[in-house]
Amino acid sequence: MSKPSDKLAALGGPRAVPRELKFHVWPKINATDEKFVLASIRQNSHAWGPNCVALQDEFARWNGNRFCAATNSGTAALHMGLAACDVGAGDEVITTTLSWTSTATCIVHHNAIPVFVDIDHDTMLIDPAKIEAAITPRTKAIIPVHYWGLACDMDAIMKIAAKHNIKVIEDACQGHGSLYRGRKAGTFGHCAAFSLNQNKNFSAGEGGLFVSNDEQIYIKARAVMSFGELRAPESNRDFHAYALGWMYRTSDVAAAYARGRLARLDKDNAAAIANWRLLNDGLGGIDGLIRPVETAKQKTNGYAYVFRVAPDKFPKGVDPNLWRDSVAHAIWLEGVPVASARMSLPEHTVIQARQGYGGGCPWSCPMARKDIDYSMSQYPVTVQTVNSSIQVGINGHRPPNGKSQINAIIKGIRKVFSQLDNVPLKDQA
Ligand SMILES: Cc1ncc(COP(=O)(O)O)c(C=O)c1O
Repeated sequence: MSKPSDKLAALGGPRAVPRELKFHVWPKINATDEKFVLASIRQNSHAWGPNCVALQDEFARWNGNRFCAATNSGTAALHMGLAACDVGAGDEVITTTLSWTSTATCIVHHNAIPVFVDIDHDTMLIDPAKIEAAITPRTKAIIPVHYWGLACDMDAIMKIAAKHNIKVIEDACQGHGSLYRGRKAGTFGHCAAFSLNQNKNFSAGEGGLFVSNDEQIYIKARAVMSFGELRAPESNRDFHAYALGWMYRTSDVAAAYARGRLARLDKDNAAAIANWRLLNDGLGGIDGLIRPVETAKQKTNGYAYVFRVAPDKFPKGVDPNLWRDSVAHAIWLEGVPVASARMSLPEHTVIQARQGYGGGCPWSCPMARKDIDYSMSQYPVTVQTVNSSIQVGINGHRPPNGKSQINAIIKGIRKVFSQLDNVPLKDQA
């Protein structure tokens, strides 16, 4: 017999999560952050300054890289990676279908052509078994993305890259501390990019970090970061642009804030991972719910929690997106911060309509292959994943939220999945 409290909030029943339970916003600021930021603005170098140099050294040490450049975004660090790996006009860069827009647009920004590879069903990361079929004589690089904070299968990717003499630029923008075979993301490829955007485990408002173990790649990336100059930003200028450069440097205040947060990143990551695993365990054994995975080699840093509605739970004749949105909305009405996951990269208008620099450029470039195809039928796992994914908000599962918030999230999701047949379509809710 169902109790009145079982009635879905979407149908007028009581919320599973009481309104008194508060979810905390990420990140929590402390006295260390304030001390670093105040010290930065009280000294004279507010543009590139001593905190930028120190952050580079400290992050390189933390992550296990020889070189690091402190940038003003993860997007900038990715773009620097393409330039530093000598990707040129009309070259092809292979990447996953599932990522944040910048993973694809940084390729277009560099006049190169993104080529997407479908994801693995379980990990939702680029499927290494499908990469070789996408390689052509024009392929210059692969960008694996440690998406949702789970490290990619880097052994398989590096093996393919070595065989075809292709560079690997890791998009570790969500992967601070994600582990592959116990080694940190960003230490496998020729270079890697991290984001310091507020949502990230390592956040400084906005910002980024470029890392590499290859000195030549690092020097080229640093030139792109700072007007095409060859000097380190803290050394004397010769007022000479040696290459086409941008202004991708961070500022001292942002770097100071980042240093404060880096000092406790291990602790923050451990708490994020513990929450992620508690949530994942608590959602075990639910009919119709596909949980995210870790594998023996690939470990999460707890960045994001994304689960899926199983295909056999989709009602016939209803648009899958509408159904997934309806399930997410019903969970949200129970008081659980969730949202439908986003679209895949090839679906974006910039890709489908080939809106780069105008006139079809870079796809129309004489150096580019003419038969590039972005039809979605090539990415069946992606299409099904995007249509069925629901993401728990970072301000739900990320610390300082803890056991009480995680248990509330589990309760709300369980309630809705125990009666999927009762979920009203969103526009009728
Ligand atoms: C996978 C991925 N790549 C690239 C980026 C771009 O980083 P930023 O926002 O710092 O430019 C992000 C940021 O959300 C990301 O999640």
